[in-house]
Amino acid sequence: MLLPQKHTGADTTIFSVMSALAAAHGAINLSQGFPDYPIDTRIQQLLKEATAQGFNQYAPMPGLPVLTEQIARQKNRQLNLRVDPSNITICPGASYGIFVTLATVLSKGDEVIILEPAYDAYIPAIEINGGIPVAVPLNYPDFSVDWDRLKAATNAKTKAIIVNTPHNPTGTIWSAADWQQLGALVAGREIMVISDEVYDQIVFDGAKHHSVLQEEALKDQCVAVFSFGKQFHATGWKIGYTIASATITKAIRKVHQFIAFSVNTPAQYALGMFMQQFPDEDSCALLNSKRNLLNQLLAETPFKILQPAAGSYFQVADYSQWKDMPDKEFAQWLTKDAGVATIPLSAFYQHGTDNKLVRFCFAKEDATLRAAIDKIKAKL
Ligand SMILES: Cc1ncc(COP(=O)(O)O)c(C=O)c1O
Repeated sequence: MLLPQKHTGADTTIFSVMSALAAAHGAINLSQGFPDYPIDTRIQQLLKEATAQGFNQYAPMPGLPVLTEQIARQKNRQLNLRVDPSNITICPGASYGIFVTLATVLSKGDEVIILEPAYDAYIPAIEINGGIPVAVPLNYPDFSVDWDRLKAATNAKTKAIIVNTPHNPTGTIWSAADWQQLGALVAGREIMVISDEVYDQIVFDGAKHHSVLQEEALKDQCVAVFSFGKQFHATGWKIGYTIASATITKAIRKVHQFIAFSVNTPAQYALGMFMQQFPDEDSCALLNSKRNLLNQLLAETPFKILQPAAGSYFQVADYSQWKDMPDKEFAQWLTKDAGVATIPLSAFYQHGTDNKLVRFCFAKEDATLRAAIDKIKAKL
């Protein structure tokens, strides 16, 4: 069979590559973004309850009402919005949410702007759906947006811009002023803003998450995408959701109903009931202390932190004072020789920009973080 090349991304994502390398060398895995601690036992209990109570058949296509109602409540409370549950579509993970949005919006040859470094699923998702990715680099080293470059990258073929806050891999977050800038740039043009907000519940030092949904100028041309995997540390559950205007939601569902149709019913019940019973649960304090611990430990090594992560599961660090090698080579060496797996930042750039940076995932037990830094120190 002749099989077409549907995208220019890697044959195997860097996350699978580094996790496999970590396993092969018995290294501590701070590469892929998943927690090594257990999920909340109350959610586990609710999942059991769901199956026992008979929530075992197809959920309604847009999502189980107990869950969409709780999401609307949470978003309205946290972001001072008036989201209606009918604007929410539950989907099998945020990556799918982004993919189905692109499948809904793109025609062949449309351009989609991404801001690099960028989560590595964006480019393949754009290309599989017939689009052309246009990468605009974020400023180095603070990873802020270069508004002039972004403006210069937009043209009549631009159909969408993908934004991600809190940001993977750099841990930066967007301010209300950033959203206003984007609003001023694209409002009223035929450009969809796809806002990947999977780490919306994980912001540090008392900062607030700012969502595209709060930017009035963009309300009829945006889709915000979220993930319960990150919010409740259950990445294996693969449940996320989109929030968009009634018109865009209708268009997304027209596609979604023929791909996934609906999402795991017992898990939707468990998440909805958990949010109903414990509406104030958040992950900020837990992850904030883990970021602090990792950064405190990294200070005892030659790694240099450009800026502490303001949100997400990740801290970026510069190793150039320690080793003079390309970042992919360094990450391999660190895994095989020091026994600690990280992700080289060049993997988040279309053309492999290498600023001698690696990404650490700190959503790990404190003991895991300590053991990893002990291993690094042993190689100094
Ligand atoms: C920025 C970003 N978007 C999307 C995803 C995917 O989320 P999900 O597992 O819900 O598909 C991830 C997972 O690491 C991510 O970091």
